[in-house]
Amino acid sequence: MASDRPHPRSAPAIRAHKGSGEPLVMVTAYDAPTARIASDADVDLILVGDSVAMVVLGYDDTLQVTIDDMAHHVGAVARAEPEPLVVGDLPWLSYHVSREETVRNAAALVRAGAQAVKLEGGRKRLDAVAAILDLEIPVMGHLGLTPQSVHALGGFKVQAKQLDEAREMVDDAVALADAGCFAIVLECVPDAVARVVTDAVDVPTIGIGAGRHVDGQVLVVHDLLGFEDRVVPKFVRRYASMKDEATSAVAAFADDVRTRRFPAADETYHLADDVAEALGLVGETRTRVDA
Ligand code: KIV
Repeated sequence: MASDRPHPRSAPAIRAHKGSGEPLVMVTAYDAPTARIASDADVDLILVGDSVAMVVLGYDDTLQVTIDDMAHHVGAVARAEPEPLVVGDLPWLSYHVSREETVRNAAALVRAGAQAVKLEGGRKRLDAVAAILDLEIPVMGHLGLTPQSVHALGGFKVQAKQLDEAREMVDDAVALADAGCFAIVLECVPDAVARVVTDAVDVPTIGIGAGRHVDGQVLVVHDLLGFEDRVVPKFVRRYASMKDEATSAVAAFADDVRTRRFPAADETYHLADDVAEALGLVGETRTRVDA
């Protein structure tokens, strides 16, 4: 359902949202149907996240996806021509090696249809941020639990629980904002830390597992729709049970096939009577499918 509110479709418009008092809404999407859902639901941003590795491609972490994988999924989302701003996630190793590789990879996501890119990390990544901004590509930052650092962090854990870590995060966020990032994701941090970071920067913070004192919220679409039911993090709210519904639907199809209730006559292409008759099938096929 569309709203009368003007859509903050560009990175500068998202950036200017800071202080508006209206929370930004971002969801992930990895394909055209999900992008259409996000667009019809009137969200502000679509993140083609490297979480695709875990929720769609079956990997245990996000480290396995390549820039080609990400471009493939960004392309699928972009072809749906969604209204929200499309942000493409730069995968691990795509912005860590050299400035040249960083810009080539960011450009690959833009060529695939992204209007901005996201990368993980703070002050360590300022060179990469500068290189991408130099190409006139808007950059979104990502702090806190940065899944591409899962091994260095020792697992998928809440971050910045200690004072020094919280201060580091504020400094990282300020550095990213000063460098020109138009928004910053804060993942799995205590709400008080997210609040301090949010107050410290002049760009919107978008939280996931960061409480309510942020400028927007993001969830992985498979989590919020209930497609993913194996691990449900504390911060996820499920708005549907798609896995259960989809399983029941497929089971009903299987039952209809096995009991020959599918397909029915009106789900079947029929030959004209004269052709059927010439084939010697008159009555026979009709009777079977109509039964
Ligand atoms: O890849 C992703 O889905 C993300 C979100 C969790 C912010 O980075």
